[in-house]
Amino acid sequence: MIANDLTAEAFRQAMGRFATGVTVVTTIDSGQPFGLTVNAFCSVSLDPLLVLVSLQQSSQTLTCIDKSGCFAVNVLAAHQQPLAVRFASRDRRDKIFSDIPHHRGAQLRDIALFDEALACVECRVADRYPGGDHVLLLGQVMAVEYSRQAEASAPLLFYCSAFQGVQAKVMTPAKEVRTQEV
Ligand SMILES: Cc1cc2nc3c(=O)[nH]c(=O)nc-3n(C[C@H](O)[C@H](O)[C@H](O)COP(=O)(O)O)c2cc1C
Repeated sequence: MIANDLTAEAFRQAMGRFATGVTVVTTIDSGQPFGLTVNAFCSVSLDPLLVLVSLQQSSQTLTCIDKSGCFAVNVLAAHQQPLAVRFASRDRRDKIFSDIPHHRGAQLRDIALFDEALACVECRVADRYPGGDHVLLLGQVMAVEYSRQAEASAPLLFYCSAFQGVQAKVMTPAKEVRTQEV
């Protein structure tokens, strides 16, 4: 292990050791779909159903979400890495959806969902909290959809500041592991 002074870079390096999935958070901007790449996403509560995303204060998408009051989280598969790169841009020309297979949300009809995402979570903003240079958005889940072939699909991962893919294999489900441990 490397001990470091507590700098922003050391913090970034340490946090980079926590592997995450990658999502594109979409919303609506003047009638057009808009979005950004996000890995700061987690589920929060089952009752009620809540998720959390953390967006930098300077995010253009955050401004759109503040206006629309809703967003969707698209969980990316490994083959969607180009979308993760595209939506990490601030250039609005990269955020055109015309060449991306997408459909409208079941509950939030204005929000675009990627057809090939592993899962999509439609949310209304339930709460908004300051988080340093980020804003934490608590989303009340309005609808979910997920790929039935998830076990055959590789998820897109982000680890040590780089995209990674893993081949999804059916391993012991966590529920069974917990049962075995008891
Ligand atoms: C893998 C990856 C994960 C990211 N995760 C986040 C995140 O969780 N929150 C965030 O605000 N920005 C995140 N970003 C950066 C934004 O996608 C990027 O700043 C984008 O340009 C913001 O677009 P916007 O200003 O149009 O909303 C991430 C970028 C990458 C490549």
